[in-house]
Amino acid sequence: MSTRPLVIGNWKMNLDFVEGLHLVQQLGVLLKSHPLEHVEAVVAPPFVDLRTVSSILDAERLAVALGAQHVNANENGAHTGEISTSMLSRLNVTWVIVGHSERRTHYHMTDEIVRATSQSVLRAGLRAVLCVGETLAVRDADQHEAWVESQLRSALEGLDASLHPLVTVAYEPLWAIGTGVNASSEQVKEMTDFIRRVLTSLVSSAPQVLYGGSVTPTNAATLVGESGVDGFLVGGASLKAESFYAILRACDDCYALKR
Ligand code: PGA
Repeated sequence: MSTRPLVIGNWKMNLDFVEGLHLVQQLGVLLKSHPLEHVEAVVAPPFVDLRTVSSILDAERLAVALGAQHVNANENGAHTGEISTSMLSRLNVTWVIVGHSERRTHYHMTDEIVRATSQSVLRAGLRAVLCVGETLAVRDADQHEAWVESQLRSALEGLDASLHPLVTVAYEPLWAIGTGVNASSEQVKEMTDFIRRVLTSLVSSAPQVLYGGSVTPTNAATLVGESGVDGFLVGGASLKAESFYAILRACDDCYALKR
């Protein structure tokens, strides 16, 4: 791990703003009593929680950045039900998850929309977490590298070089998301190495590469220690302060040991 580890909690469609407030308060207690030295922590609550979570992070001076789970690629206008990058920036959001597989699969987020959304996020000066990953059928057909490469190329090819430093990639195989079956350290290593190789031909910076898919306090230390990944995108285990903190701690300890 060459850069500070990054751990992002994706709450998905869980926790209303009161529950979100409680979670961040509990996380704050843990972070204040046992501070983390190296890890960069981000929470990505539902849109309607952002203002509350932003206020509490600010009031408690917590070293946790704010992320959004999605955004519309357009700047404004007639897009009923959608949210723009400028709306997010006004709420102190600095990270946006782009192209999560649940959006690609259930909400018709095509490669073209992922590309437009990435560009819009990056041009707004926000940091994009571009999600890529294959289904089990694609992996069984031994097409996972080609699949992920095509997702990366489609999203990033031709991107203005000034925006490269704002790109982060999350490898999230669909068969590992929310299933309780995480990819093995070998599989994560193989794919993060592959993604880094593809990225050298696409961007001039060296983006952090995260892993996501059933990361828990039990497997986090092994995964981060053995796979060479730069951190995690965490779903289910980010919904409890103790389990999210334990994953942050595992990454912090690993970085301290390897430095
Ligand atoms: P999970 O979700 O940790 O619940 O598997 C990960 C994700 O979808 O980002």
